[in-house]
Amino acid sequence: MAAGTATNMAPRLSELAASFSGRLLTDPQDTAPFLQDWRKRWIGRALAIAQPDSTQDLAAVVRWCVAHQVPMVPQGGNTGLVGGSVPDDSGRALVISTQRMRKIRSIDPINNTLVAEAGCVLETIQRQADAADRLFPLSLAAEGSCTIGGNLSTNAGGVQVLRYGNTRDLCLGLEVVTAQGEVWDGLRGLRKDNTGYDLRNLFIGAEGTLGIITAASLKLFPKPAAQMTAIAALPSVTSALQLLALAQKHLGPSLTAFELFSCTCLELVLEFIPGAQDPLSERSPQYVLLETSDAESESHAVASFERLMEQALESGLITDAAIASSYAQSQALWTLRENITEAQARDGKNLKHDISVPISSIDVFVEHTSAALESQFPGIRMVVFGHLGDGNLHYNVAPPRGVNPEVFMNQEAAVNAVVYDAVEQHRGSISAEHGLGLLKAQENVERKSAVEIALMRSIKQALDPLGLMNPGRVLPLLPQPVLL
Ligand code: FAD
Ligand code: MLT
Ligand code: ZN
Repeated sequence: MAAGTATNMAPRLSELAASFSGRLLTDPQDTAPFLQDWRKRWIGRALAIAQPDSTQDLAAVVRWCVAHQVPMVPQGGNTGLVGGSVPDDSGRALVISTQRMRKIRSIDPINNTLVAEAGCVLETIQRQADAADRLFPLSLAAEGSCTIGGNLSTNAGGVQVLRYGNTRDLCLGLEVVTAQGEVWDGLRGLRKDNTGYDLRNLFIGAEGTLGIITAASLKLFPKPAAQMTAIAALPSVTSALQLLALAQKHLGPSLTAFELFSCTCLELVLEFIPGAQDPLSERSPQYVLLETSDAESESHAVASFERLMEQALESGLITDAAIASSYAQSQALWTLRENITEAQARDGKNLKHDISVPISSIDVFVEHTSAALESQFPGIRMVVFGHLGDGNLHYNVAPPRGVNPEVFMNQEAAVNAVVYDAVEQHRGSISAEHGLGLLKAQENVERKSAVEIALMRSIKQALDPLGLMNPGRVLPLLPQPVLL
């Protein structure tokens, strides 16, 4: 924090501290974890970190910010990958962390709903649903620390979108503190409600730029009777697409995950994640991790899964496979997929992309784009993995071995141009599930139509006219007029 800023703000902060019952962190040792993102790409500064205890408490903090024109950065688990949850380096913003708002308010097994406060960690919600003999299907590798408020604000995807949809599809109602510090109670548990503009869907995916989500009414599902997990080795992404079609034919809606990763990804995990093991005897260009969640029985699950794998082997779509026969084996297979991000982080800095294209174009996209990148940037390592069943790949580019990652990061604009031009040719998206944050806000404006951006700006202006909610995220800041 700049000394001048700290002095000017000191009396105001004591006033803020007195206005709500939660915690206010100002000691640099306490605030440090809230100022740096998971990838360690962005480090900011802040006036302080406010950790309200309740919705009313959080509303009081927002009203204080409005009264003093203080920008606000909402933060959940701080696992976002696009720089949305950390402040800029001006030191002017207040980080509003939901980490003390962790109550499960209710579970209704008949209505199949659970109401959770925004700071509830995803894994806690999954466990509570399980204890009520229900399933909350949102699942991602950061589930031990990301929060439901963050999941909703980024409209997170994860590994079961294929069957259950994105976080947006799992939410029936929201409670939100508006940018003015009022509380909107939209915590309805209704499957049908056509009463005007859909405010809930405005706040979902808004990355904290329109208001702060304080609680959500979430959809629960029956627990599957049995699950089967397998890893299959394939010669190409095209074979993976053919396997997807075959798996959908055999398993229908029981197919709950279909995740692709390349040999490079597997080797990164084996190198950096202790205990990770290759379950197959030979390396293969591509792998698919697939999972079925059977509503009928264990024997039905085993029979239909084995039939699928046999046919895939016989027709040459896959060259080898390992089917997990216990929960521990299934976890070991998931370890290979879910630790790719962590392994990449340990490997060093890299350029991440989170693209989607129509599922049917994904093999052509990968083939052409990787060839273009490899000819323009010789020696790069393509680290490509993701949710093939959703047409969403993490199309990451790591520096050649021996090249200083910091130096390679200077190529970001040139690498992005190749990737995003290809995405545009396929009418795809430059952010399928992670959001725009700071990382992609400018690129998005440049690639979307003027009409679309103007509509987005008018929504922002209507809900946050002072521009205090997570400024510069989603929509880049407009240049300030020069006063003559
Ligand atoms: P934060 O990082 O704290 O915040 C994310 C954004 O939401 C910020 O813009 C923040 O301002 C805003 N925000 C947070 N809470 C609120 C609130 N209550 N109200 C309003 N705005 C708020 N993402 C996927 O989609 N799929 C994946 O498979 C996936 N896997 C991941 C694996 C790893 C190892 C890691 C580190 C990340 C992964 N992510 C994935 C990204 C990340 O976990 C998700 O974006 C997650 O939803 C963020 O939740 P969070 O609580 O950490 O939010
Ligand atoms: C994943 O699918 O594992 C994530 O979205 C994280 C990532 O992109 O690294
Ligand atoms: Zn993902």
